[in-house]
Amino acid sequence: MADSDQQQQPARRVLLGATGSVASIKVPALARSIVQQGLAQGLRIEVAVAASASALHFFRREQLPETGVTLYTDRDEWAQWKKIGDPVLHIELRRWADVCVVAPLDANTLAKVANGFCDNLLTCVLRAWDMAKPRIVCPAMNPMMWEHPITSTQLAALEGLGFTVVSPVSKTLACGDFGMGAMAEPEVIAKAVVEHLLPGGGAPPQP
Ligand SMILES: Cc1cc2nc3c(=O)[nH]c(=O)nc-3n(C[C@H](O)[C@H](O)[C@H](O)COP(=O)(O)O)c2cc1C
Repeated sequence: MADSDQQQQPARRVLLGATGSVASIKVPALARSIVQQGLAQGLRIEVAVAASASALHFFRREQLPETGVTLYTDRDEWAQWKKIGDPVLHIELRRWADVCVVAPLDANTLAKVANGFCDNLLTCVLRAWDMAKPRIVCPAMNPMMWEHPITSTQLAALEGLGFTVVSPVSKTLACGDFGMGAMAEPEVIAKAVVEHLLPGGGAPPQP
């Protein structure tokens, strides 16, 4: 598709949730890969990053692509809302997005989502999610956390709620431990996201 045609078509919209795993250092690369893989498929994609307070320890706003990617934090939720009638950010983001991907999904947010807790911007978007829209999670945690029996129980709960799980991989993690728990590579995750946006992929364009 010609560049001018891509500019004219409505953008597809990805909500990228980031949590407090060291794998959040890959959030800028993931956002870039989603946009680039979309373009390669003839899709113009906009990305909204909803980052937990812990996620913000691992990347800076300036590292995100300058165009097509916007960062939202818990502060924005309350900065936008002062009185009845003001927009509620987590509801606006849920309406806006065609698909959401939580990458990385850390053990804490996994536990919260599996049990319906919603105490920050990201978990509020997920708790208010339109169940007709696709949702993907990409766990990332220490191998001992991954092997803890509560992990498989909570991931099964998410799968029961219609989440697609992009499995972690086995390698030596930032903490020095070796084993399962490293987040899948950004290109693999971006491919899973873009596939949901292609015709027949489960995320029809919004009117
Ligand atoms: C340097 C560092 C790295 C961490 N990496 C992970 C990780 O890979 N996976 C994980 O589940 N928790 C990890 N944690 C713990 C989370 O940051 C912690 O549970 C935090 O409360 C998660 O908050 P959130 O789920 O709201 O983002 C790490 C903590 C630190 C200090």
